[in-house]
Amino acid sequence: MSQLDATKSGTFKIGGDIEINRLGFGAMRITGKGIWGEPADRKGAIATLKRLPDLGVNFVDTADSYGPDVSEEIIREALHPYKNMLIATKGGLTRTGPDVWVPVGRPEYLIQQAHKSLTHLGVEQIGLWQLHRIDPKVPRGEQFDAIKTLLDDKVILHAGLSECSVKDIEAASSVFKVATVQNRYNLVDRGSEDVLDYCEKRGIGFIPWFPLASGDLAKPGSLLDKMAKDHKAAPSQIALAWILKRSKVMLPIPGTSKVKHLEENVAAVGIELSDAEFAALDKEGKKQAK
Ligand SMILES: NC(=O)c1ccc[n+]([C@@H]2O[C@H](COP(=O)([O-])OP(=O)(O)OC[C@H]3O[C@@H](n4cnc5c(N)ncnc54)[C@H](OP(=O)(O)O)[C@@H]3O)[C@@H](O)[C@H]2O)c1
Repeated sequence: MSQLDATKSGTFKIGGDIEINRLGFGAMRITGKGIWGEPADRKGAIATLKRLPDLGVNFVDTADSYGPDVSEEIIREALHPYKNMLIATKGGLTRTGPDVWVPVGRPEYLIQQAHKSLTHLGVEQIGLWQLHRIDPKVPRGEQFDAIKTLLDDKVILHAGLSECSVKDIEAASSVFKVATVQNRYNLVDRGSEDVLDYCEKRGIGFIPWFPLASGDLAKPGSLLDKMAKDHKAAPSQIALAWILKRSKVMLPIPGTSKVKHLEENVAAVGIELSDAEFAALDKEGKKQAK
C-alpha cells in the first residue's frame, strides 16, 4: 500500500450504512474564480479527481451551486460510475454571480434541485444530500418536510444540514434522521464546538469545511510552525492531523484543484500527533479563536 493512503484516517458509516474513509475531498475548488463557471484548468481538475480512488479517498463533497452545476458535471466526467465512492451533494443556495450565494429554501425548489443533481451526477439515488443553508425566509419545518419527501421518494438515501445550530438539528431530527452536519470548523474557528460535541454523542458525521485554515497560528516561530518542522510537514498538514484527531465523527473535506495539493493533504493522515501536541494546539487555537 502506498504511503499516501486515506484509509489510514479510519472509517465512518454515513447514516449507519455507507462506509467511507474519514478523509474526504471538497469539490468546490474545481470551478472558476468566485466558484463560478469553468475552472481555469479543466484537465488539472479532472486529473485531481481521477487521483482520488488511487489515494483511498472515497468521499467527495459537492453542491448544485458550485459553478453552478460545473462541479457536479466535472465529477461525473471524471469518476462516473463512482465505484465504491460516495458523492455527497447539497442544495438550497442559488447563484446570481461570482461569490454571490443566496439561500432559497422553498420546498418545490429544494426538491427540483435534488432531482437536477441526480441528472448532473448520473445516479439513480443520491447517497447523501445536505441542505446547504436553512433559508431564514421560509419556515425551517417546510424545508425539513421537503427533505423528508426526498427521502420517502428515494431520491436521496441520507440527509444532512449545513451551517446549523444544535437547536436546528434537534428540530430537523423530529422530521428525518440527520446523518451529517457540515459547519465551518478548524483549529482557529471553534464556533461550532457545541454542534460537534452534539454530533459526536449521537454518531452524526461532522464535516468541517475550511479545515486547512490556521490563521496566525502558522506564522514563522509559532507553535504550529515549530510542530510542522518537527514532523517535517506543512502547517496545513498539522492542522488536518489535528482535526482528524479531534473526533471520530470528524470527516474533513479539504478542497483543491491540484494533484500536488491533494497528495499533500492525504499525506497528513500519516502524521501522528501525540496527546500533548494535540492539547497544546487545541489551547493555542482556542486562544486565537477568541
Ligand atoms: N457547507 C458550506 O457552506 C461550505 C462552504 C465552503 C466550502 N464547503 C466545502 O468544504 C470544502 C473545503 O472548504 P474550502 O475549500 O473552503 O477550504 P479548504 O479545503 O480548507 O481550503 C481550500 C483552499 O486551500 C488551497 N489548498 C488546498 N490544499 C492545499 C495545500 N496542500 N497547500 C496549499 N494550498 C492548498 C486551495 O487552493 P488550490 O486549489 O490552489 O489547492 C484552496 O484555495 C469545499 O471544497 C466544499 O466542498 C462547504
